[in-house]
Amino acid sequence: MPARAADGYKAPMPRSVFEPFRIHSVEPLRMTTTEERQAAIRTAGFNLFGLHAADVLIDLLTDSGTGAMSRDQWAALQHGDESYAGSPSWFTFLDAVQELFPFEHVIPTHQGRAAEKILFTAIGGPGKVVPNNTHFDTTRANVEYTGASAVDLVVPEGLDPAAEHPFKGNMDVGALTALLVEQGRERVPAVFVTVTNNSGGGQPVSLENLRAVRAVCDAHGVPLFLDACRFAENAWFIREREPGQSGRSVADIVREMASLADGMTISAKKDPLANIGGWLATNDDALAETCRNLLILTEGFPTYGGLAGRDLEAIAQGLREAVDHDYLRYRARSTAYLGEGIAAAGIPIVQPIGGHAVYLDARSLLPHVEPLAYPGQSLAVALYEVGGVRGCEIGTVMFGRRPDGTEAPAAMDLVRLAVPRRTYTQSHVDYVIEVAAEVASRAATLGGYRIAEQPAQLRHFTALFERLP
Ligand SMILES: Cc1ncc(COP(=O)(O)O)c(C=O)c1O
Repeated sequence: MPARAADGYKAPMPRSVFEPFRIHSVEPLRMTTTEERQAAIRTAGFNLFGLHAADVLIDLLTDSGTGAMSRDQWAALQHGDESYAGSPSWFTFLDAVQELFPFEHVIPTHQGRAAEKILFTAIGGPGKVVPNNTHFDTTRANVEYTGASAVDLVVPEGLDPAAEHPFKGNMDVGALTALLVEQGRERVPAVFVTVTNNSGGGQPVSLENLRAVRAVCDAHGVPLFLDACRFAENAWFIREREPGQSGRSVADIVREMASLADGMTISAKKDPLANIGGWLATNDDALAETCRNLLILTEGFPTYGGLAGRDLEAIAQGLREAVDHDYLRYRARSTAYLGEGIAAAGIPIVQPIGGHAVYLDARSLLPHVEPLAYPGQSLAVALYEVGGVRGCEIGTVMFGRRPDGTEAPAAMDLVRLAVPRRTYTQSHVDYVIEVAAEVASRAATLGGYRIAEQPAQLRHFTALFERLP
């Protein structure tokens, strides 16, 4: 008897990669007119950080702490135990962290930069040099605040927005070796690798590169730290792109990444899917003791850091969800969808598209605006004025001022459209693409800016700008 049609039938893999969740509660968005937005950005000194969030329609300023928590995270909050010392929530958090990052000492903080501040206070100082593939702004600022130098050593492809390379976040191992030979282990307290490389376009770092960096660190007796904010997205790209990795679970790849390092800093506001939190981890007993003492000065007791017990619970649950393959497939695909749409709309972007954001190449789109007139700021303001879309300049505004006060163009002038996790739908993204197309059509009319007022550090957050005539 012939087999029934259904016997042995396997449906093809669906081509649509859709949100692996349903919406459980909603937040309203407030529509604004062009005139309202023009007035709002002028009042904010043309600084997008100065806007009222209620005046923003689609907020792609950052993926940091802006994601939607899951039902299970909200439920986990109810388990929060607010005991000052030794809370059960601390042990839940510790287990979840060490499941992925089996470092001996885990030191919770209220966010990533608090972990950086404590670590670099302990290991930085005048004359020290900290290499990284690319320092994130707070990381660089915390290194430099101690009097140490922050040196970026990403591979050359990482500085070319158009270069197609699967791991543009990789560290330039030759340059790292040369730096370690020149400076010696006494001056280099740690080598950092940022996964994924946020300031360099959200580009991943391969396992092969991490292993090579580890070997160089071993040869020079220098510890290796991960800035692991986007560890899950990095591991997903390793699984997707690195030969021999496709059969592994993301959790397993994360554990291997951790095994290659001696410690880490992280913001739980990114891949751990929480709205607040971070931690510092190390295998070094003496360093951990110094850091815990600093933690008590500024953050709190070592079993809560700057966090409530309920926050520790939300992070622990978020860590379990962060390595889910359906979630990561959707995350990578939905970010790529935004990037493909923007590129098709005529705005050059950093290729390949990273995990958490699309980086628009403002310097290429606006060749008539010289880097010291901040083409990234110009593009970011235009996206807001035209459609209420808020992005973030990552270029000469953010990185152009040297510690001695002089100014030089950053390596690239980008605008980052960061995608909050599990927050916007495909039709929101279609709207952003429509706005980008309108801005691209007006590119020749966009002018530059000058800075009217700025603080000594991290100026992009609070600087006030004026339009150049
Ligand atoms: C790579 C990287 N490191 C460190 C940080 C700092 O984390 P936080 O904002 O929690 O202080 C960020 C934040 O965006 C980041 O992207």
